[in-house]
Amino acid sequence: MTTAKLILDGKEYEFPTVVGTENEVGVDFTKLRPTTGAISVDPGYGNTGSCASSITFIDGEKGILRYRGYPIEEIAEEASFTEVCFLLIYGHLPTQRELDTFNEKLTYHSMIHEAMKQFFDDFPVTAHPMMVLSAMIASLSAFYPRATTDEDRELNIIRLIAKASTIAAFSYKKSVGQPFIYPRNDLTYTENFLHMMFAIPAEPYVVPPVLNKALNLLLILHADHEQNCSTSTVRMVGSSQANLFASISAGVMALWGPLHGGANQKVIEMLQKIREDGGDYQKYMDMAKDKKSGFKLMGFGHRVYKNFDPRATLLKEAAADVLAGLGIDDPLLEIAKKLEDIALEDQFFVERKLYPNVDFYSGILYRAMGIPTEMFTVMFALGRLPGWISQWKEMREDPKGRISRPRQIYTGETKRPYVPMKDRKATVATPEEKLEPVTV
Ligand code: ACO
Repeated sequence: MTTAKLILDGKEYEFPTVVGTENEVGVDFTKLRPTTGAISVDPGYGNTGSCASSITFIDGEKGILRYRGYPIEEIAEEASFTEVCFLLIYGHLPTQRELDTFNEKLTYHSMIHEAMKQFFDDFPVTAHPMMVLSAMIASLSAFYPRATTDEDRELNIIRLIAKASTIAAFSYKKSVGQPFIYPRNDLTYTENFLHMMFAIPAEPYVVPPVLNKALNLLLILHADHEQNCSTSTVRMVGSSQANLFASISAGVMALWGPLHGGANQKVIEMLQKIREDGGDYQKYMDMAKDKKSGFKLMGFGHRVYKNFDPRATLLKEAAADVLAGLGIDDPLLEIAKKLEDIALEDQFFVERKLYPNVDFYSGILYRAMGIPTEMFTVMFALGRLPGWISQWKEMREDPKGRISRPRQIYTGETKRPYVPMKDRKATVATPEEKLEPVTV
């Protein structure tokens, strides 16, 4: 075993190193505080391994992404989304029989409790579907509170994957004022979602194979991405032994932010803005480079990928194919490609290794499929569910698991005496005080 040495205040300490199966090296600082009294400081956790995991491997320098060892390119080519769910959650590719049983269970549990339908009525019609998804997932714990045995937990995993797609489709139907369309037992998971989204009672609906294929790909490409912001949130919440539904509901909220999954919505809004502004790419590139502008090129950059994001490469190709297959000519695709071309040549982006991420092209695909912009991040969440679940399961099954509880470097005031109200002097005027006329 190799070790790492740390010299602190002239004293030398040794720490063991850990090496992953892909030769990733970490210094094990578990004993850092007990032995030295100091903590490691790593804002944004860019250098911190919060856990050991056997689910997903990423090499950001080489643009590699593998689920349970299988390259994303091969999985994306061949697999179905539910097969990937099985792979991520149970650790191996299912046999046909295992997959059939898994799919049957997902079908059987796809309806939501009728009482939950009422909740959709009580949110304002303008409620963002990510908020609705998170609240609905949290409320599943009211309907399925048993989580004591392994069997309970297994069943809740199935319930969550099965019902999340129904919840997502229902939230869309509510937002457009259409009646809910119930899941059908003769359809696959992805077909069912499209059916619940786009069927209307007045007409028969046949799921277009091109849409089904695109959805399958999109969900697979989002299925897991090791310890990102939302997954770490799921693990963090779950580490307190909060139930599955509560932990995943928190993950949905973390994903919503524009620097994470919410970027897919922001990308389309940005492309639309550029188009409406006469397609002046350079103006937006210049703004992105000017820190004072507060503008970022959404869908660009990644904490881990510093070469290319393999998911973006696959989605760029798929976007072109799907648009051609549907006979759609989307000017936003052209704007996106143009921005990418300029960025790839631009010193600012090259130096900082900023490349399109998964969110850059996914929105173009969702648009072509008829999915409204506000639903984009919900689509991401549906895809990410098996990843969150498998990471939650892995954490809960880890015998060494502890509650997540980071430390801090305190930078506030040192000890000072409490000042009674009568002796306090105003130091900063509140906005109200500034507005109020002073009368003597
Ligand atoms: N546009 C312009 N400049 C950027 C961008 C961008 N999209 N992304 C990073 N930069 C710049 C930063 O200003 C910084 O410049 P500096 O070194 O001169 O200060 C440098 O590149 C490094 O960026 P950081 O913000 O430090 O990188 P970090 O790893 O913290 O953030 C993130 C990564 C959040 C993805 C960032 O690149 C970003 O905000 N991108 C846009 C939002 C986005 O697309 N998010 C989706 C990410 S993928 C996902 O979550 C599914």
